[in-house]
Amino acid sequence: MVRLVRDLAGIDEGGPRPNDRPGAMARRPRPMMAPATTSTTRRRRVLVTGGAGFIGSHLCERLLASGHAVLCVDDLSSGDAANIDHLRERADSGAVDFETMRHDIVAPLEAEVDAIYNLACPASPLAYQRHPVQTTKTAVYGAINMLDLARRRDARIFQASTSEVYGEPAEHPQSERYWGNVNPIGPRACYDEGKRCAETVFFDYHRRYGVPIRVARIFNTYGPRMAIGDGRVIPAFILAALKGEALTVFGDGRQTRSFCYIDDMVDFVVALMDCAGDVAGPMNLGNADEVAIIDLARTIIDITGTKSRLAFRALPENDPLRRRPDLGLMQATLGLKPRVSLGQGLAATVEYFDRLLSGAYLPGEGALLAGAGGSIACRSARNP
Ligand SMILES: NC(=O)c1ccc[n+]([C@@H]2O[C@H](COP(=O)([O-])OP(=O)(O)OC[C@H]3O[C@@H](n4cnc5c(N)ncnc54)[C@H](O)[C@@H]3O)[C@@H](O)[C@H]2O)c1
Repeated sequence: MVRLVRDLAGIDEGGPRPNDRPGAMARRPRPMMAPATTSTTRRRRVLVTGGAGFIGSHLCERLLASGHAVLCVDDLSSGDAANIDHLRERADSGAVDFETMRHDIVAPLEAEVDAIYNLACPASPLAYQRHPVQTTKTAVYGAINMLDLARRRDARIFQASTSEVYGEPAEHPQSERYWGNVNPIGPRACYDEGKRCAETVFFDYHRRYGVPIRVARIFNTYGPRMAIGDGRVIPAFILAALKGEALTVFGDGRQTRSFCYIDDMVDFVVALMDCAGDVAGPMNLGNADEVAIIDLARTIIDITGTKSRLAFRALPENDPLRRRPDLGLMQATLGLKPRVSLGQGLAATVEYFDRLLSGAYLPGEGALLAGAGGSIACRSARNP
């Protein structure tokens, strides 16, 4: 793959950030020119939108380790170029085929790719509520632009949907058959309804135009490279604990979440994408172990050995009380289960933030099961 674009370098040169002016970083699409590989290992040219974000950067790493050529497209609105610096260095030395493009997917994109992972979207409530209209545009226009590209290129496309499509669920655990309970006008609606509408257009492109889709409903995922200060509970608790500050628990802390470590999630995402057959989804991806937020806080206090205390604040509007995936479809279809326990994953994440705060972190560190995943067999191909 010819290396054409290194636009993310603009961030190091003091270029404007997209949040200054939503859409301002959109660039004229530039095609990737190299012909498709004929390798028998099915080396592919893969586009990852949101590739400089938390999940996206780990996914780029995994795809490159599997020998694919990767184009990372990101507007850096909630991601960080530092998440992929190590990949750009490896590309500079010729070790991997990795390109980057700074681009807002609200604008159309042309690229010569065989597969698309659409992850671009702010994921933390702080990030998406800061720019709600841009969030909806990213979720919906971005999805349409990527689906148009997939249609033109005859490429398979993965959509990072979310457990938030279930809203405040009236069913527990949440299976893919449950249609959800979402407030369409609340402060979280830009994200929840944006992702719901994105699912709608994915299935319409699939039915109407035959675009091969993979729609995953990702449940809470955590690990190294989550953004400091983005308000998500695990980094917020860990940072408070490492600084000896109070851990802020919303409500009485009895609300639950199910947390999946990043290495497991990347396994699931790649397995769903690579699965043979018409496995359009939607498919829940995550870890079904449910933990009360107050117990999570206590575990992090134990791991860090901090003297921090708990502080209680009112529960935010429309914050769901219970969240646990029904993973029956994932396990039956992909034959996979999470391998990293909450204790192991939290320890690795604490170590990452500790090193980050002390300035000792090296880009590329942090994967507990580096290189894991490998070839994953698909047991069956069925839709809910
Ligand atoms: N982390 C989770 O627990 C979780 C749960 C459910 C779903 N998801 C989904 O997974 C995806 C990745 O989430 P994450 O946790 O890595 O978040 P993240 O904020 O770290 O990553 C999102 C990336 O998308 C980029 N981006 C945002 N808007 C864009 C736009 N218009 N054009 C181009 N790039 C844009 C950001 O700069 C960032 O790098 C998101 O789509 C999110 O909705 C994540």
